Amino acid sequence: MKVLITGVAGFIPSHLAEGLLEQGFEVLGVDNFATGFANNMVQCQLNPNFRFEELNVNELAQIAPVFNQFQPDYVFHYAAFVGVKRTLESPLSVLSDIRGIENILELSSKAGVKRVFFSSSSEVYGEPVEFPQNEDTTPLNSKLPYAVVKNLGEVYLKTFQKEYGLNYTIFRFFNTYGPRQSGDFVISKFIKAALQNKPLTVYGKGDQTRTFCYISDNITATIKALQNEDFANKIINIGSNSELKILDLAKKVILLTNSKSVVEHLPPLKEGDMTRRLPTIDNMRKLLGKDLKVLDEGLSETIEYFSAYVED
Ligand SMILES: NC(=O)c1ccc[n+]([C@@H]2O[C@H](COP(=O)([O-])OP(=O)(O)OC[C@H]3O[C@@H](n4cnc5c(N)ncnc54)[C@H](O)[C@@H]3O)[C@@H](O)[C@H]2O)c1
Repeated sequence: MKVLITGVAGFIPSHLAEGLLEQGFEVLGVDNFATGFANNMVQCQLNPNFRFEELNVNELAQIAPVFNQFQPDYVFHYAAFVGVKRTLESPLSVLSDIRGIENILELSSKAGVKRVFFSSSSEVYGEPVEFPQNEDTTPLNSKLPYAVVKNLGEVYLKTFQKEYGLNYTIFRFFNTYGPRQSGDFVISKFIKAALQNKPLTVYGKGDQTRTFCYISDNITATIKALQNEDFANKIINIGSNSELKILDLAKKVILLTNSKSVVEHLPPLKEGDMTRRLPTIDNMRKLLGKDLKVLDEGLSETIEYFSAYVED
């Protein structure tokens, strides 16, 4: 079975590629290195079933030949312009990802792809209206460009299914963390700062909550979704249901790294920093078939990884 992964030099997609290669899939990964790194693919490159092409999925002329030549059975469309600060500062770059979504769906439909998997986000829920956030019943309140593009991506997938019978699975990722995550995200940012004894910066009082999903749980669940037809044409929250205040996360990281860092409070962000996140994870639990990794354990593994790269 052949799988195309877009954004393969990124954090989650590179781990996904490793997981699929381990299961015996042939993987073609593409990336334009907007936020990804060649180093993230070192493990994949050791496997003869892995190939990589540098290209921009938002350009039809660049991505179309890949479908003709590789003829994927499955496509994971994970390439996206990411990072809260970056997406707020460059909304037009975010909106250009709509072209990538259209390209992937049109090409997948023509090529007879069996299923397209899309990395949506908890951000589609926007400022929360109810808890826990349920895939089928919680209203979507997305307003910012990044969230609206993910929301529109979901609409595109459902429409292609309806009009052309192209099957999909939508993953709404809530904060996933682990080795290789870029420094734009809260856990990797805190760990890097703590390892260097620099201040951990928190927006406002730090009482906004998030849930954190370790990368291996994300990958196990998403690969099992591919292997189970019951999850075709479904939306699945991928996250944890253990809620933590950002201030408490900062204190935990300082403790686990034995750091001399202090917490520094910055003015609250004007937009984009939701007060609370909490998903229903019944679907994810069915896929995983085991308990999720405990945060302290996942943090320790992530700290070990970053310790090798960050100097005191
Ligand atoms: N990490 C999370 O907690 C989280 C939460 C919600 C959603 N997501 C989604 O999961 C996916 C992966 O995120 P990640 O955290 O691994 O980020 P990442 O930045 O590490 O990975 C994204 C990859 O996509 C590539 N890319 C971006 N635009 C591209 C383009 N036009 N053409 C080709 N490649 C392109 C980047 O270079 C990068 O390698 C993204 O779609 C993101 O929106 C992640």
